[in-house]
Amino acid sequence: MASIDRTDPVILGHMLVEHRDLFNLIFSVRSAFAAEAASTPDRLTVLLSMLHHLRDHLHDHFAQEEEGGFLEEAVTRMPRLSAAARSILRQHPGLLAELDRVIGAIEPTTDPAESWSQAGDDFEMFSAHMAAHEQSENAVVQEGYNEDLGLIE
Ligand SMILES: [Fe+2]
Ligand SMILES: [Fe+2]
Repeated sequence: MASIDRTDPVILGHMLVEHRDLFNLIFSVRSAFAAEAASTPDRLTVLLSMLHHLRDHLHDHFAQEEEGGFLEEAVTRMPRLSAAARSILRQHPGLLAELDRVIGAIEPTTDPAESWSQAGDDFEMFSAHMAAHEQSENAVVQEGYNEDLGLIE
């Protein structure tokens, strides 16, 4: 078992990989929205499948964080981070709901071009909220481990 005074490389490595994977998925969806000439039926199908994949991944990621892991470990090391960690975890349902609204808006679409553009704007907002969320998680973990992990700009 890792000493409490030392960074657990397994937990931190896992967190970094998870956050990088999420970032890559979100980036792919943003690129799909931004690509020229929106919303042929084929492109909508591809985009929807990317969004569903991201949704599944995000759901699992949040569930893992809620079950324990690096946030809990950071709080164990530094109990004063407990309120910050709880408030970060409370953001999960809202973030999933925000992504669900983007998916719901383009799924049964009557005007693909219009819904594509609106959904693209909404996805940009969601991705900014996700970036802020992950940044605050990284900040708690960095503080809990009392180490500069190079996670905060
Ligand atoms: Fe989270
Ligand atoms: Fe996370």
